[in-house]
Amino acid sequence: MRTQVGIIGAGPSGLMLSQLLHLKGIDTVVLERHSRDYVLNRIRAGVLEHNFAEMMREARVGERMDREGEIHDGFDITYRGERHRIDLKGLTGHGVMVYGQTELTRDLYEGRDKLGGTVIHNAEDVRPHDITTDKPYLTYRIGDERHRVDCDFIVGCDGFHGVSRKSIPADKLRDFEIVYPIGWLGVLSRTPPVSHELIYVNSDRGFALCSMRSHVLSRYYVQCTSEDRVEDWSDDRFWAELKRRLPADAAGSIVTGPSIEKSIAPLRSFVAEPMRYGTLFLAGDAAHIVPPTGARGLNSAASDIHYLYRAMLDHYQNGDDAGLEGYSQKALARVWKGQRFSWWLTKLLHRFPDTNDFEQRMQLVELDYLFSSEAARKSLAENYVGLPF
Ligand code: APR
Ligand code: PHB
Repeated sequence: MRTQVGIIGAGPSGLMLSQLLHLKGIDTVVLERHSRDYVLNRIRAGVLEHNFAEMMREARVGERMDREGEIHDGFDITYRGERHRIDLKGLTGHGVMVYGQTELTRDLYEGRDKLGGTVIHNAEDVRPHDITTDKPYLTYRIGDERHRVDCDFIVGCDGFHGVSRKSIPADKLRDFEIVYPIGWLGVLSRTPPVSHELIYVNSDRGFALCSMRSHVLSRYYVQCTSEDRVEDWSDDRFWAELKRRLPADAAGSIVTGPSIEKSIAPLRSFVAEPMRYGTLFLAGDAAHIVPPTGARGLNSAASDIHYLYRAMLDHYQNGDDAGLEGYSQKALARVWKGQRFSWWLTKLLHRFPDTNDFEQRMQLVELDYLFSSEAARKSLAENYVGLPF
């Protein structure tokens, strides 16, 4: 098989890139390790910055998002037991779109189906070859059958555990990483959300987050330890712990119910540099991971896809390779800003086991400062709604 751009991974990054390129007549093949059902059943975060929502529209898959998604003009942070609002719209002119990533992936798949895009599932043992030449190719296996895809470029959109980053020689790649000694225990429940906007909670017992997927579907998180296992957390224990962390009004009015899904996510900050090696380009979680606190995961992937898409258009339509040459540097500049914000907000809102009293006071005084200074809130808000690409 031959294509122009071979893409590894059918997460939001890979599907979005293939959809955008297809609309401009550039041929792609997406190779995905799992089944379509598996990809569509993963529960992921649910906040889209306005840049990403715009990209969904550009990719002609934004209709359902615009109908069912909800624009949030702000969110709350609680600390010392009190609620304070960050007025995103007032501070930046933009809100964010609350729309589950599971739904968004479904829309991208439908977009790919409509255009007749090629997404190959259950592709085992996917491997990039000859990435330092201008004739790279991919191989994969389905059952006992081996296949080969020849292409001009390979894009690794295969997430943190994918194969593409590992295909770059170790001495050509530099990793930067923090593994936080905590996790997020998340519960999805068919209950009305406790508040119409998100609540990020800094409490003595640790962080909590009240989020949602719709008017009848809530997503809640509590900070747990790295050693905690889902089996340690019955629904009753989860709700009791969440209530202890919430301010009194929210704890008193929250509606609880059986969990539909319960999982623990580790917290990690990670960047690999550079994001290009020869004819292999990395995008999204394949190159960088953020802790979920600032809702930057998908949104950091969005700018990679934006730069790469435009660079590929310049290559195919104008014979101009400046965008491809500059991709890694340009993408990393924005990636690092998203990393800084996620790291800062994570430090601000969680309780860490090794924090001393001085550092604890610093956290509270930083929150006091935030809610006494419009400039500080504006800085938070512009990062949360998304810095320009
Ligand atoms: N071969 C083929 N596919 C692979 C391989 C492999 N060796 N390894 C991983 N994959 C697939 C995964 O099964 C997954 O479907 O690559 C895809 C990667 O998708 P994500 O992890 O969602 O990564 P990305 O698309 O960059 O996501 C960006 O959206 O879903 C969130 O947490 C994610 O916030 C991040 C953002
Ligand atoms: C979610 O709804 O899952 C969610 C929302 C905001 C975050 C992280 C996760 O910062």
